[in-house]
Amino acid sequence: MSILPILKMGHPSLLRISRSVDLSQEFDDVSTLVQNMTETFNSLGERVGLAAPQIGAFVRVLIIRIPKNNSITRYDALVDEDIPLTALINPSFSPLSEEKENGWEACISVPNMMGMVPRYKHISFSYETLEGQKIESHASGFHARVIQHEYDHLDGILYPQRIEDFRLFGFEEEIVRYVKSNSPDFIKE
Ligand code: NI
Repeated sequence: MSILPILKMGHPSLLRISRSVDLSQEFDDVSTLVQNMTETFNSLGERVGLAAPQIGAFVRVLIIRIPKNNSITRYDALVDEDIPLTALINPSFSPLSEEKENGWEACISVPNMMGMVPRYKHISFSYETLEGQKIESHASGFHARVIQHEYDHLDGILYPQRIEDFRLFGFEEEIVRYVKSNSPDFIKE
């Protein structure tokens, strides 16, 4: 396994549309990719997701992990279920209603920054496991936010493109100090 460098905003490859993978043809490569993503993810500290394009692999693969009711200050959006480390291969999602909610987001490809982003509150989503199983599920709130944030990476979209009020975009250090204390929702991906 390898810890790989993270592409940062401004790198034109982060704008690419990633391709689907065919596990029946590419299992070994995808398996290695998931291992490298996992090792890289685990090296990044307290994060909740990573998309393959962030390490320069332009395929539709994500990993997420969201601890339940965690005590990490920067992740203080509480989720009522523990989402273990999960690889989502060829994911898709659709909103279950038009309802959106605002929440803070950050991204390892946009270091030291945070912004307020509207996301669908309730989604259904599906993906393949590395073993080729098709999973269909649904998510709400912070869990749904993480999936939407990561999914955007596969379409070349970084969260600043989703910000509607740029007064709520800035350095994490300042936002945590002055703003976030009044806001319960926060993602640091
Ligand atoms: Ni991100």
